Amino acid sequence: MGLLGKLLGEMETSRLVLRRWRDADYEDFLSFAADPAVMLSSGARPARTQEEGETAFRRAMWDSGCYAIVLKETGRPIGKIKFQKDLRRYQVNSLSIGYELAREYWGNGYMPEALRAMIVCAFQRKNVEVLAISHFAGNDRSRRVIEKCGFRYEGTIVQAYRRCDGKVMDDVCYSILREEYEADPQRFGAHT
Ligand SMILES: CC(C)(COP(=O)(O)OP(=O)(O)OC[C@H]1O[C@@H](n2cnc3c(N)ncnc32)[C@H](O)[C@@H]1OP(=O)(O)O)[C@@H](O)C(=O)NCCC(=O)NCCS
Repeated sequence: MGLLGKLLGEMETSRLVLRRWRDADYEDFLSFAADPAVMLSSGARPARTQEEGETAFRRAMWDSGCYAIVLKETGRPIGKIKFQKDLRRYQVNSLSIGYELAREYWGNGYMPEALRAMIVCAFQRKNVEVLAISHFAGNDRSRRVIEKCGFRYEGTIVQAYRRCDGKVMDDVCYSILREEYEADPQRFGAHT
């Protein structure tokens, strides 16, 4: 990654680059954003029409906390990861993270790799005090990503979220505190 990438807040890992979305990414964006198996698990509405796809894509492009997860090998996005408001905390310097990966790339450890870069960014660049994350009860793939990245379980909010398909989901909540991160940054993916 060059100086410009760094100035733009891009992140790099061994296999991935996390960067802002570009116009040319639209087809790759749709490969997960229009897939109900991916989007329902994360609580978002899958894009069903071109209009819905374009609206979701514009939102991702304009959102400064939203990154395309780009596979270095191909230079193309395979998923999305973003910082979002931590809606469960009040007047605390906190953020939450959400993510989706196109189905054909599941099971290669890509999301833990991207999430570790986001954890380091949250504490080192964005100076959060608390970094939160959650998954719907039963989403074991996401649970594993979160556990592997060192988040601590906080509790489960029952009947927390009515999805677009009408199903009401329990939300399993985790966090990392700044003091936990600072006690051992390498455990969370920081390089010395
Ligand atoms: C959750 C998700 C991001 C995981 O990303 P990933 O890069 O595949 O993560 P990993 O490779 O670390 O795999 C996580 C777990 O998925 C399971 N898994 C592995 N290979 C798999 C495959 N081919 N297909 C399905 N699941 C698989 C394993 O249980 C693995 O845990 P393990 O490391 O203990 O074996 C991805 O499945 C996804 O996009 N799901 C839909 C959207 C979603 O749930 N978002 C999160 C909302 S909280």
